[in-house]
Amino acid sequence: MLATFHTVAEWREQRAAHRAAGRSIGVVPTMGALHAGHRSLLETARRECDLVLATVFVNPTQFNESQDFEKYPRTLEADRQILAGAAVDAVLFPTVAEIYPSGTHYTVQEDALSADRCGAHRPGHFTGVLTVVMKLLQIAGADRAYFGEKDYQQLQLIRGMAQAFFLETKIVGCPTVREANGLALSSRNVRLSPAERALAPRFPTILRSAADSTLAQEQLRAAGFEVDYVVDHDGRRSGAVRLGSTRLIDNVSR
Ligand code: PAJ
Repeated sequence: MLATFHTVAEWREQRAAHRAAGRSIGVVPTMGALHAGHRSLLETARRECDLVLATVFVNPTQFNESQDFEKYPRTLEADRQILAGAAVDAVLFPTVAEIYPSGTHYTVQEDALSADRCGAHRPGHFTGVLTVVMKLLQIAGADRAYFGEKDYQQLQLIRGMAQAFFLETKIVGCPTVREANGLALSSRNVRLSPAERALAPRFPTILRSAADSTLAQEQLRAAGFEVDYVVDHDGRRSGAVRLGSTRLIDNVSR
């Protein structure tokens, strides 16, 4: 049975009971609009932990465009079905006021890695992400927390934050889930028009096949994408592109 919590206090009371019974806890932070990418994180947590908590919170501080925040898909009933289908035990679905009791007076800012790739194109984005993830990890008090490699820079920054602040939760990275045509699953894919959807799988194909990052950018532009960046780093190639008003990110190992 999926238990739904709206407040930190309600969850913490439950957590104390589970802790007293010696159960291990896994947390999967999400912004909802759940798909098979999220489900793979939930299933990994299910295999590895006695109790699985998902959080569904569209975090306003990580959206640098207010339109993107407003248009972000919110599908709580469908999300609940996916959570129940993955045998998740509990979901925390808090309000903004619950998560930000002191507004944004306290934040977590990283000053090196967050300056490039997505950070360079989305000012303040990673401060918003790290701040909310710090809050969610403190609230969850879990043994393990699951994040996708699809958001590779986000995963790197969360690992770095956990190390820098001696967090006791182990950060677990999970591989990217893709459609059969190669397109990485993303909550934003539902916003693509039919024509954009048909073009979108060229993005991972070109990321993989281009000889270098400059050629990848040229080929993406020629195919009809607006390119934010393509960068080779740490044996990977990461990129961000736009199709109309929708931004897609991806990374492949090389
Ligand atoms: P969201 O985009 O909902 O993603 C939640 C988690 O699912 C993230 O760890 C993300 O990397 C992972 N994920 C998304 N698509 C995936 C895919 N195709 N394959 C594998 N994993 C995938 O990322 C966020 O939310 C937020 O920034 C959050 C960490 C919750 C903080 O607000």
